[in-house]
Amino acid sequence: MREKEIHQHRKDEHLSLGIKYWKNQRNEHFSGLRFSDVRMVPQGLPELALDEIDLSVRALNTRFEQPFYIEAMTGGSTFGDKINAQLAEIAAAQNLPMAVGSQSIAIKYPELTAGFQKLRKINPDGFMFANLGAHHNLEAAKRAVDMLEANALELHINVAQELTMKNGEGDRDFYWLENINEIANKINVPLIVKEVGFGFSKEMFHQLSQTAVSAINVGGKGGTNFAWIEHQRGGEFELEDYGFTTVESLLEAQHAQTQKTLIATGGITAVSDIVKAQLLGADLVSAAGFVLHQLMENGSDPLQMKLENWKKELRRYYALQGVKNKAALKKRPVLLSMEAQYFLEQRRK
Ligand SMILES: Cc1cc2nc3c(=O)[nH]c(=O)nc-3n(C[C@H](O)[C@H](O)[C@H](O)COP(=O)(O)O)c2cc1C
Repeated sequence: MREKEIHQHRKDEHLSLGIKYWKNQRNEHFSGLRFSDVRMVPQGLPELALDEIDLSVRALNTRFEQPFYIEAMTGGSTFGDKINAQLAEIAAAQNLPMAVGSQSIAIKYPELTAGFQKLRKINPDGFMFANLGAHHNLEAAKRAVDMLEANALELHINVAQELTMKNGEGDRDFYWLENINEIANKINVPLIVKEVGFGFSKEMFHQLSQTAVSAINVGGKGGTNFAWIEHQRGGEFELEDYGFTTVESLLEAQHAQTQKTLIATGGITAVSDIVKAQLLGADLVSAAGFVLHQLMENGSDPLQMKLENWKKELRRYYALQGVKNKAALKKRPVLLSMEAQYFLEQRRK
């Protein structure tokens, strides 16, 4: 195979293994704090009407009607472009933001930009996130944004994934911070730094607080596991159950008192996960593996119904919490499990 086909093949393997990961319910087996370690405090006298509830969020220079969106997965191969096109249609119909998967393939092989450009035609007015790895330079970042006429740019940090890739494939050099800061300072859209499923520690929040990035997506453990995926693809480094979960990463954000917009991804499968992530401080919440699984298993229309339902259920959860908006939700107390308290205590030092 030529280099381009090898790259496209890798994209397709990520998709098929991502689907398989979910299908085998591997996403349910991991250590660390889960959303079930966070409990909501009931408010049976909410003193509000459902109609008064406003789910919108102001972040990334935009007003989002809903606090959730479709996270980065694919693009650049025939299969990947097809899935992205379906996701773009869903995003447009549901008025939900969407991120594309890494555009590095189209930066390297410009003939592959068409598949990404098409998404803007399908979803002309929607909020779209461009996506690249954190080692790409400013010029590549600008091209990725232009390709999509993107509203924001995600730079993914994925050390654990790179190190578990087959020899010859993964990066082995991880000097990223200066580059991230340069792009954040010079690009004309908000920049998000995102993990891909291994989570964030308070030390990482501190490192990024010194930069001009607008937002941090914790990309926690608890859903798609790229160490497993890369091992299935032939990587010899079998990294087991590594990283901080999404819940743990959000607790770390509290310790770090981050002032950046906070996004939660990683193992989001239900509306209650979205609400709990918000209760723990997330401004926006996104899902990748779950959306992919639903799309492949049930098809586009049932997925749309599911997302439509999420909007309705979210409103009901806000009513159950007695809050009319996100600002009020963030002030609500939560109950944490003993294990969560122990985690907090250890990480306070
Ligand atoms: C098939 C697949 C491909 C992915 N490719 C990318 C990518 O190119 N860039 C990126 O930032 N994240 C990528 N991700 C990671 C997701 O955006 C997300 O951070 C991660 O899967 C955790 O969320 P989840 O548990 O909801 O899947 C990919 C995820 C999946 C399932």
